[in-house]
Amino acid sequence: MSEGKNLVGVDIGTSSIKVCQLKDTRKGPRLVKLGYTPLPRQTIVDGHILNASAVVEALNRVFTEAKIKDRDVALSISGQAVIIRKITVPMMTPAELDEQIQWEAEQHIPFDIKDVHVDYEVLRRRPEAGQMDLLLVAAKREEVADYTDIARQAKLRPVVVDIDAFTVQNIFEFNRGLPPDQTFAIINVGASLASINIISKEASAFTRDIANGGNYISEQIQKQLGVPFEQAEEFKVMVSAGTSPNPQIGSIIDTVCDSIAGEIQRSLDFFHATSGEPEMHRIFLTGGSSNLPQLMNAIGRRARVGVELIPPLERIPIEGKDVNPQLLQARAAQLCVALGLSMRKDRERRL
Ligand SMILES: Nc1ncnc2c1ncn2[C@@H]1O[C@H](COP(=O)(O)OP(=O)(O)OP(=O)(O)O)[C@@H](O)[C@H]1O
Ligand SMILES: [Mg+2]
Repeated sequence: MSEGKNLVGVDIGTSSIKVCQLKDTRKGPRLVKLGYTPLPRQTIVDGHILNASAVVEALNRVFTEAKIKDRDVALSISGQAVIIRKITVPMMTPAELDEQIQWEAEQHIPFDIKDVHVDYEVLRRRPEAGQMDLLLVAAKREEVADYTDIARQAKLRPVVVDIDAFTVQNIFEFNRGLPPDQTFAIINVGASLASINIISKEASAFTRDIANGGNYISEQIQKQLGVPFEQAEEFKVMVSAGTSPNPQIGSIIDTVCDSIAGEIQRSLDFFHATSGEPEMHRIFLTGGSSNLPQLMNAIGRRARVGVELIPPLERIPIEGKDVNPQLLQARAAQLCVALGLSMRKDRERRL
C-alpha cells in the first residue's frame, strides 16, 4: 500500500450510509471500525441529494455509533454524475497528455467541459501503433460539490472523491488480483442502480449503470400486494433468507430479477459486440441486492457463466473490539464501496 494515513471510507448510497476504517499494519490492512445507518426514502434520488439535513444527521450518527474520531474521509459518486470512456490517443509524454486531456475530453464527454472534473488513467501504451489507450473519467462538478459540502457540514474533511465502480474494483483487486487472461464483470446492485464494470486485460474496459436495483424490486412488491414500501422491503429480505410469508412474493421477485438480469445481459452483449471480446469468464456480484439468490440465479441463467459473490473481507481481518460482528455479517454485501474507499490514503492525488 502507498504511504500516508488511511482515510475513512464513506459510502453515501441511496438506501444507507456505510463507513469503514482500516489500519495499516506490517501484515496488511485491518478493519478497525464499521458503521451503517439507513437513510429515509427520497433523501437521495437519481444521485441528487434532495434532503441535505437528513444526510448530515445520518453522517453524524454513523460516525458516533461507529466510534470514529478521524475526520479525513474518502467519498464516492456514481450514476449520472459520472462518465467513463475508454479512448485512444496518439503516444505522448505525461506533460503533453496533461495539456491535451481537456481537449480530448471535449471530444468524448457529452457535457460542457467547464462543468466537469476530468481525470484519466493510462491503460496501455502501444508504441508500435503510435497510440495509447486511456480511461477518461469526467465527474460533474455540481454533484461532487454537493457531496463534499454535505461532508463538510457534518464536520468531515473530504480528501478524495472516487467513483463507486473503481472503489469496488480496487477492493476486488486487493483481494483476488486481476487475472490477466480473463474477461470478467463486476456488478454492484444497490438500491437504485446496478452498475457494471467489465475488466479485461487487467483494466476496466467497459462501464455502464442500469437505473434499476433493489428499490425497483420492492416497489413491484408494494404495487402488486398493495402494501407500504417498508413492508415490501421486509418481505423481500424474508424471501432472500428463504422465509417467504407468501409464494406470490417469490414469483414477483423472480420476474423483476429476470428483467434486471435481462438489462444487464443487454449491456454485456453490447460490450461483446463492440469490443470484439467474445468471452466472459465469470461474473462477480456485490451490493445489497446481491443478497437475493434469485438475482444471482437470473444473471447466471442469462449470461450462461458462473456468478460468484465478492467476499469483501477475504484478505482484511478484523482488529480490536469496535467492529460489531452481527452488523458485519448482515451488511457484508453492502460494504465493497466503503471498504475500497477506506484503502485510499491522505497523501494521494486528489480529484
Ligand atoms: N438481505 C437482503 N435481501 C434482499 N435485499 C437486500 C438485503 N439487504 C439489503 N438489500 C437491498 O439492497 C439494497 C441496498 O443495497 P446497497 O446498500 O448496496 O445500496 P445503496 O448503496 O444504498 O444504493 P445505490 O448504490 O443504488 O445508491 C436495498 O434495495 C435493500 O433492500
Ligand atoms: Mg451503493
